[in-house]
Amino acid sequence: MIVLDTQNNVFTLHTKRTTYQMKADQYRVLLHTYYGPRVSGGDLSYLIQFADRGASPNPNEAGHRRDYSLETLPQEYSTCGVGDFRLPSLEFEPQDGSHMADLRYVNYQLRPGKYSLEGLPAFWGDQGWETLVVCLEDPSTHMQVELYYGVLEERDLITRAVRVVNRGNSTVRLHRCASLCLDLQRGDFDLITFDGCHAQERNPHRAPLRHGVQSVESVRGTSSHHHNPFVVLCDQGATEDYGLCYGAALLYSGNFLAAVERTHLEHNRLVLGINPYHFCWTLSPGEAFTAPEAAMVCSPSGFGEMSRQFHRAIRENLIHDPCQGKRRPVLINNWEATEFTFDAEKLVDIARSAAPLGLELFVMDDGWFGQRDNDKSGLGDWFVNQDKLPGGLGALVPRIQELGLSFGIWVEPEMISEDSQLYREHPDWAFGAPGRPHTRGRSQLTLDFSRQDVRDHIYEAIKTVLDSADITYVKWDMNRSLTDVWSAQLPADRQGEAFHRYTLGVYEMLDRLRRDYPHILIEGCTGGGGRFDAGMLYYTPQIWCSDNTDAIDRLRIQCGTSFCYPVSTMGAHASAVPNAQTGRSVSMETRGVVAMSGTFGYEMDLGETTQAEKEIIKEQVAFFKEHYELIQQGDYYRLTDAFQEGPYTAWAQVAPGRREALVSLVTGPARSAEPLRTLRLKGLDPDVCYQVNGEGAWPGDVLMQAGWPLPMFWNDYQPMQLYLSAV
Ligand code: DGJ
Repeated sequence: MIVLDTQNNVFTLHTKRTTYQMKADQYRVLLHTYYGPRVSGGDLSYLIQFADRGASPNPNEAGHRRDYSLETLPQEYSTCGVGDFRLPSLEFEPQDGSHMADLRYVNYQLRPGKYSLEGLPAFWGDQGWETLVVCLEDPSTHMQVELYYGVLEERDLITRAVRVVNRGNSTVRLHRCASLCLDLQRGDFDLITFDGCHAQERNPHRAPLRHGVQSVESVRGTSSHHHNPFVVLCDQGATEDYGLCYGAALLYSGNFLAAVERTHLEHNRLVLGINPYHFCWTLSPGEAFTAPEAAMVCSPSGFGEMSRQFHRAIRENLIHDPCQGKRRPVLINNWEATEFTFDAEKLVDIARSAAPLGLELFVMDDGWFGQRDNDKSGLGDWFVNQDKLPGGLGALVPRIQELGLSFGIWVEPEMISEDSQLYREHPDWAFGAPGRPHTRGRSQLTLDFSRQDVRDHIYEAIKTVLDSADITYVKWDMNRSLTDVWSAQLPADRQGEAFHRYTLGVYEMLDRLRRDYPHILIEGCTGGGGRFDAGMLYYTPQIWCSDNTDAIDRLRIQCGTSFCYPVSTMGAHASAVPNAQTGRSVSMETRGVVAMSGTFGYEMDLGETTQAEKEIIKEQVAFFKEHYELIQQGDYYRLTDAFQEGPYTAWAQVAPGRREALVSLVTGPARSAEPLRTLRLKGLDPDVCYQVNGEGAWPGDVLMQAGWPLPMFWNDYQPMQLYLSAV
């Protein structure tokens, strides 16, 4: 609910459990007054304290009043060059070369429903949303800034976006335009970021804020394996179930910057948005720039509820799921089984052994096109390799379908190999600055997706393939970080637009694909989880979580990912052992338990598994299908912290209505004389009795307070699942 006090210019956004407030003061400076647990309202600007602080300048209107400084007051959207020395949100350069932005309140608009952003991902939905737009202006240049707020009350979700319009009469260069600025004046906070590398994505790192700026960022052209555009600020004592925490996610898949500054006055400012590195956008008079959306959830009761609110909102109001209301298929992917070495017979063999186990979708991964026998050639040549697949997909797909599986295909549209027909014809389509040698990544170059002609060509080629057979799934891969980012179609003074235009180009093409083939399920992938962000999820309802399929490493990767992103978005497959990334061998049971807490599938040659393993897979697939809704849509509880060395990692899904739950657990390395342990469950209805694995009747409060005694486990990495149903 948005409440306006137009007399005092106070704007209050209430969600179910939180309140957010800003106020335009007597100088029309928009101050941030409060964000935290829900309060009844009123003007909370009494919390702001005015004091004369040395070295803090005062705006012109304040005259000789020295207790009023932009630097010491909480700003709703921070500026630069006129007295706020903290992290700026906005920086632009008019033709006089100045770098000053001094924003003053102009007006507001209140609208029912949710705003949308042209060409950019954004939360959506008809029900339960309200939108507030607050307009500010720099009076000297007439640069206007529209601050967008979308309020999804039930989910405690507040979205933000920013549109900058040049209302002056000369051209301006925009150097920085953050999506979110959050000034929290009081609090000793910890910052949690989600970091890693290829095959080890999204490991949480938590540290108290210290004075100065702490930041994570990407300048790789993707949101990256290394840092995620999702961060948490929390009370220093905050846990899964206790303490105030703020999660902030950027719906953006390119270069980002998430920076927090703790000042000399122990104020805290979070700024989240496009990375200013190599960003400069030219705005002629009348032109506008829209910064990507950011989304915030504040939880007064720990990380668990923050995550669950993000999960619900992402599932219901961000992704476009072509399988809406239906189950997504359990898939078999051939990559780890064959890599590039396969032909039609091999693929049909894998599909033939998958079908009787209940698998439903066969995904043909990399290697089916052009001269693609290894990772050094073929990218860009999106036509079927007839040596491997004689008769093309028109011949292969019906054979797979006859076995009872649907068919999916892998593509990597943004890339080009130097050894390809496409490169021989259009070398200038790859990113690369004149006079500089190319930098390769996985032996490949990146197509200049900021260009419409390049995108159109690739789209048409892929469309021809998609139209040649009955294809129900596309895995959109992307396997390198961007370098040599220079576009032949942009003049020298606009090269600062290339990175962002590339991301917009990827979004435009994904949007076309989604609209032209609404029945196709698109899985995002960037060398595993190198672009696992809320922006991609708008277009690709699931994303391959990591190239690391080791079940034990996946416990951590999926746990870190779950802080913002729901189970139904995390691509997870059980693969062969010894694992291709770690060499570790764990049981089929353990691999299945971990992978089914994601978008479930297998990635191995099922023809080579033992009969006993096949029986286990059959049971796992049947169990997953039976409990699909619970596992994929249920409320997710981290019962332990997968990153702490402990005797086991446990998590649970609880159905809305709390009539059913699934508890999953995997033990750590075995040790002798292991103490007896009890696992306390979460999220159950305390007043309901539950059967556990079909037996007994245990009150929810007992299971949550007294817990469930764990058996003695034998050997490393043993799995356990408890299925609870209300009696
Ligand atoms: C990286 C992906 O993450 C893998 O799953 C696989 O598709 C390979 N690329 C293929 O090149």
